[in-house]
Amino acid sequence: MNNEKVKLMKEKEMELNSNMSRESDIYRMKYHITPPVGWMNDPNGLCQFRGQYHVFFQYAPFYPSDNVKAWGHYVSEDLINWKYIDAPILPDTKWDKDGAYSGSALIEDDKIHLFYTGNTKEEGDYDYITAGRGANTISVTSKDGVTVGEKQCLMTNKEYPDDYTCHVRDPKVWKEADQYYMVQGGRKKGDKGAVIVFASDNLTDWKVINEITTDEPFGYMWECPDYFEIGDKKLLGCCPQGVESQEFKYQNIHQSGYFELTGDIKNQYELGELREWDMGFDFYAPQTFLDEKGRRILIGWAGVPGVKYGNPEEQFGWIHSLTLPREITCKDNKVFSYPVEEVKHLRKQLLDIDNREDLEKINSLRSYELEICFFTEKKSAKKLEIVVADGVKLVYKNNEMSLCLNKKSGAGRTIRRLKLDELRELSVFVDHSIAEIYVNHGEYVFTTRFYSDAIKPELNCMDDIKGYELWTI
Ligand code: FRU
Repeated sequence: MNNEKVKLMKEKEMELNSNMSRESDIYRMKYHITPPVGWMNDPNGLCQFRGQYHVFFQYAPFYPSDNVKAWGHYVSEDLINWKYIDAPILPDTKWDKDGAYSGSALIEDDKIHLFYTGNTKEEGDYDYITAGRGANTISVTSKDGVTVGEKQCLMTNKEYPDDYTCHVRDPKVWKEADQYYMVQGGRKKGDKGAVIVFASDNLTDWKVINEITTDEPFGYMWECPDYFEIGDKKLLGCCPQGVESQEFKYQNIHQSGYFELTGDIKNQYELGELREWDMGFDFYAPQTFLDEKGRRILIGWAGVPGVKYGNPEEQFGWIHSLTLPREITCKDNKVFSYPVEEVKHLRKQLLDIDNREDLEKINSLRSYELEICFFTEKKSAKKLEIVVADGVKLVYKNNEMSLCLNKKSGAGRTIRRLKLDELRELSVFVDHSIAEIYVNHGEYVFTTRFYSDAIKPELNCMDDIKGYELWTI
């Protein structure tokens, strides 16, 4: 991207953000991060630096005419009000000319160190899997949390193990004792997904120390790896591509979840089954970070690559969003993810579904939070139904929960299912064209985009509800 293109990008951002163009856009979200203009995918470089939260993201401002990725940058003091700064990493060197792809942040020496993949493509008759593509590991640092210094290329494909294709990417870095570690996702020759583990003692020189994979191939490529400990669990997050769908599992085209790892990521290990972070239609490529309060926070891309669903917000010049920041916790041997407590500060007015005066407000809502607590002693085979928005409903019956979208609201999204022994609680966060649905306080989550003219939530199972709160946002 040259200076002229950057100028054009800024003009486009300003134009789309003017009040006039936002007025007619009924899909633009209010409390989720969306791209200023054009396309957004993975969250990158998540961190908290000198108190301020940073969310970088995969940004293609000229989408659909040009898909080349830069990093956009949002900041926040409180995880709920976000301010767009600019695009600090552009694909403008020989190492990243065809895309500044995903990566992560590490705070060290009072600086943000960013690590990402520079994607390059050679001209010629290549398949771009086994030949013709470069995946360079690049680092830049920021001293002020706004601007970045010079790019440094740390590794090229020659430094990755020989049995890998050109697809190696998405470095996630962390520190343990005085050592630095990095995981990168990869596609091995023979189409097997895996994660490469690197170590360094100075953040510049890296060497391969291990490989994490399954005995039998579990997909051909693992993207966006992450590794962290929560409670007494060690989790390896990643996004396997090419895993076969099942009725109640792995229902999207590409998966996004975590393996529980026993043993040592740097040495001998065993992996459990991949559990999904989210069972909805629109979730992929999440990343986590530890904030200054010690919370493990996850943000995902509310989208999936290569899907056939429509995203009608495209008519307004933008596409996709990120999810709410979710705190990851571990209780009774289970992993939960639930919006950080700051999200409660978005609540404005409490509404009563039985109050005639509130009805008009409920019928014209565009964003809300709904929390429901169910009676659990009545084990009926009765159908419980919650209307999240026109054409978007949740149904629970016979230990099965499904999220169903009709043709108009779904734009290609139909049904997602999960098996659930007991429904105790539901929390629904709706924002114009996205719904995040948390089951039993985040034991399961469904994230979906939807496109309804009206939102109008309905609780069609009042006998089974112990209590609820419906808040305007
Ligand atoms: C995941 C992903 C990453 C890559 C980035 C490119 O959605 O494919 O593996 O770095 O998107 O935008």
